[in-house]
Amino acid sequence: MKRNTSFNRTTPIASCCALVGLLVAASACSSSTDNGTTDGGAAGGTATFTEVYTTIISPNCLGCHDSGTKAGNLDMSTQSVAFMNLVGVPASGPSCLTVNEDRVTAGSPSQSVFYSKISASMPVCGNEMPLGGPFVSAADVTLVSEWITDGALNN
Ligand code: HEC
Repeated sequence: MKRNTSFNRTTPIASCCALVGLLVAASACSSSTDNGTTDGGAAGGTATFTEVYTTIISPNCLGCHDSGTKAGNLDMSTQSVAFMNLVGVPASGPSCLTVNEDRVTAGSPSQSVFYSKISASMPVCGNEMPLGGPFVSAADVTLVSEWITDGALNN
């Protein structure tokens, strides 16, 4: 039940961004982000990896993080491959190899390179993702934060 409720919450955000186009996505989606943030963000919300993959990774990251390009040594070409290469796996791309931090540390967005790279203009290493933008919405950043805080489950 939780999963369905949560998915319905994010669906309008995704279609909103897709429709209004990249340049105005941030402002046009700001009304929808209310739904994403009022549930408590990292503290109280719930999110699944399926939501993270379908809403954020699949539409925004595969141009460079597919199995052929593997930018930053990171392949996220399918949901299962992405999970396998993210959670509990140390960053190993050219810019992030030396930070000694996992791409996703279950329970801790602040110790997750993946989270840093989509939420900060100056991430812990390398560049903000998706490289060159347009960057993901505040609601999507919250979604990732919730998924990691919830234990970064393969759900
Ligand atoms: C236009 C190409 C491009 C796109 C699109 C892109 N990336 Fe990247 N990504 C890179 C490059 C190049 C690197 C290596 C340099 C760096 O870390 O800044 C990288 C590195 C990373 C790393 C660090 C991997 C490691 O182990 O060092 C993460 C995490 C990451 N990207 C996440 C994402 C996410 C999440 C998205 C989608 C929201 C995304 N990227 C979209 C090019 C891209």
